[in-house]
Amino acid sequence: MSKSVRIHPSILNADYSKILSEIDRVAKVSDLLHLDILDGKFAPNTSFSWEQAKYIIDGSSIPVDAHLMVIDCDEQGPKYAEAGCESVTVHVEATKDIRKAIRNIKSHGTRASLALKPSTQIEDYLDFVDDVDMFLIMTVEPGFGGQAFMPDMMDKVHRTRELIGERPIWLQVDGGISKETIEIASAAGADTFVAGSAVYKAEDPAAMVSILRDLAQTVQN
Ligand code: DX5
Ligand code: ZN
Repeated sequence: MSKSVRIHPSILNADYSKILSEIDRVAKVSDLLHLDILDGKFAPNTSFSWEQAKYIIDGSSIPVDAHLMVIDCDEQGPKYAEAGCESVTVHVEATKDIRKAIRNIKSHGTRASLALKPSTQIEDYLDFVDDVDMFLIMTVEPGFGGQAFMPDMMDKVHRTRELIGERPIWLQVDGGISKETIEIASAAGADTFVAGSAVYKAEDPAAMVSILRDLAQTVQN
């Protein structure tokens, strides 16, 4: 039996002037749309303003998976949940009261997720394993699309998978996911894959999403 996986295209480097049609190109074959919010303080880059993010959340033909790389996750997390995102991810490094942030996000019927930068260890956040709907293990430093996948994160992915056990928690990887790397991440235990440049630099983005899905789901772990 093949493994059940999710593919979330990231529009960080897509063309904002035609963003909704860029989303439409992959909508039929994708699970959620990955929306990176960068404030220029948590990581050295900025992305969408609140107005642009609202426009995308309201207009996207598939539900949104928001990844907040901002310094005030406690405030921004619930705001994105209220705006109608299907899933909201806050960084553990930028959230003062993680339990409260998760509760506030979930109060809007939204999935709540915790993200870890490459240097952050999962073992420091064991307390939240019964509260979250997803863990996001970053496979690049937060900030930019198109960076190289960090294979040394696979041990952390594997440890997180062990920790999750039978719980229905998704395990997401984000950064450098492509035809060349997705099987490695899937074999380590990831089941939810963000792909930005691999999808939007492909001649046929929808076909690339399907290729990535096939590669990820044939891997056993
Ligand atoms: C990086 C972002 C990623 C980025 C991934 O900080 O969180 O979601 O868009 O882009 P690729 O797939 O090109 O590494
Ligand atoms: Zn992301």
